[in-house]
Amino acid sequence: MSTTAQIGVTGLAVMGRNLARNFARNGYTVALHNRTASRTHQLVEEFGEEGIFVPTDSAEEFVAALERPRRLVIMVKAGEPTDAVIKEFAPLLEAGDMIIDGGNAHFADTRRREKELREQGIHFVGTGISGGEEGALHGPSIMPGGSVESYAALGPMLERISAKAGACAPCVTHVGPDGAGHFVKMVHNGIEYADMQLIGEAYQLLRDVAGYSPEKIAEIFRTWNEGRLDSYLIDITADVLSHVDAATDQPFVDIVQDQAEQKGTGRWTVQIALDLGVPVSGIAEAVFARSLSGHAELRAASRHLAGPKATALSESEAAAFADRVEQALYASKIVSYTQGFHEIAAGSETYDWNIDSAAVARIWRGGCIIRAAFLDRITAAYEAEPELVSLLSDKGFADEIAAAQDDWRAVLVAATTQGVPTPGFAAALAYYDALRAERLPAALTQGQRDFFGAHTYRRTDREGSFHTLWGGDRSEVDA
Ligand SMILES: NC(=O)c1ccc[n+]([C@@H]2O[C@H](COP(=O)([O-])OP(=O)(O)OC[C@H]3O[C@@H](n4cnc5c(N)ncnc54)[C@H](OP(=O)(O)O)[C@@H]3O)[C@@H](O)[C@H]2O)c1
Repeated sequence: MSTTAQIGVTGLAVMGRNLARNFARNGYTVALHNRTASRTHQLVEEFGEEGIFVPTDSAEEFVAALERPRRLVIMVKAGEPTDAVIKEFAPLLEAGDMIIDGGNAHFADTRRREKELREQGIHFVGTGISGGEEGALHGPSIMPGGSVESYAALGPMLERISAKAGACAPCVTHVGPDGAGHFVKMVHNGIEYADMQLIGEAYQLLRDVAGYSPEKIAEIFRTWNEGRLDSYLIDITADVLSHVDAATDQPFVDIVQDQAEQKGTGRWTVQIALDLGVPVSGIAEAVFARSLSGHAELRAASRHLAGPKATALSESEAAAFADRVEQALYASKIVSYTQGFHEIAAGSETYDWNIDSAAVARIWRGGCIIRAAFLDRITAAYEAEPELVSLLSDKGFADEIAAAQDDWRAVLVAATTQGVPTPGFAAALAYYDALRAERLPAALTQGQRDFFGAHTYRRTDREGSFHTLWGGDRSEVDA
């Protein structure tokens, strides 16, 4: 067999197969491999006309089909399967070759794999890929980590197959070394959870407080999609809400079980944020909301709990309320992104990745699930001030939140009064109020800790650590 393929993809389920087709459609010769060979041949049978594919039936044949240095993309189930595939291929590779893991790996696994393979001279490029199966085929947002050298060899190809945003800017950048790409993909997914939760809360408020039908809410979402909330998720939400179930003639959203799953990257975003000490309360509430929805037994056992008496709104009140919900959704969204970018900055600092926040916002503008017009604003904010402490420190965002806050608060009052759960909106507002507070009750917490555990405290008026003799004469001693 001649060694002609510029890139190879192993793992040809929905993502791998579409990614392979994307490379081929962009003029690259693509070697194909899958544990179960039938998938490989099926791809060629169905889509062989789209470009030049080199189907192979064994790891040896696959590696031999690649030009050197080899670029080998793994798109298999994350976790043990990825290790199994690396174990199979690494002995067949040579120094300078690249293994690109496009699965949803945990960044700590990516760091481990990168280190092990580096010892063998192989570049391991943990790469976040977002956009689902459509994105993989037509242009995803791509978040590669790994070495600078590997990006030099791989970047132009990734740029070609990626989504384009703005003035045709490719939605890919070298995020940073080792696990940086998978870390950023993880936070992307955490933000995606938060975005979806906030949209869900807006929907439920419009349904239960404003009294609107799913079709009417779809219309409202379409209007919002023409403004500052313009995004893929708002767009598809309108489509989902206007869909009618053919079997029952009911709104689709009414015949689907209201139990969501939380797994993988969304949960990791919160776990890692806890480790890094970063408050991502909006993302955490989104994960918990899914988790609560899945506890059918708990919910069934709680149906007897009393709630407030519902109050109907007049037509004009409902319309005014819908406008307020838009403000609350937008303000809460700013907070979710603020928290997500804080986690990226903390990860970057902890692992010495030197991640460019503006570049991350730029590559999320197209291809990925959270793509939104709003990301242009975030890009601009970080370009203007790369060391921005928080997105809320940006004057533009601060002004917008200031303008939204009365409506944001009014929506939460209505939600509370009417008994509609809005953990995402509430967590976002609490975060905002905590940041702007002159004093937080953490001072009291420190006093309590010193009282029961002699944990000491620091004072506002002088340096040092102190302890009060709570059980004695309550005098203060240096600690
Ligand atoms: N689906 C999405 O929207 C999406 C988006 C972004 C990222 N991802 C990530 O992309 C990766 C691929 O996703 P997917 O949905 O296309 O496929 P998947 O269902 O996660 O994985 C199926 C693929 O993994 C292979 N595989 C499983 N165990 C293996 C093992 N022990 N050794 C070798 N191969 C093994 C399968 O081979 P066989 O055919 O032989 O079973 C098949 O090719 C995953 O990491 C996923 O998290 C998915």
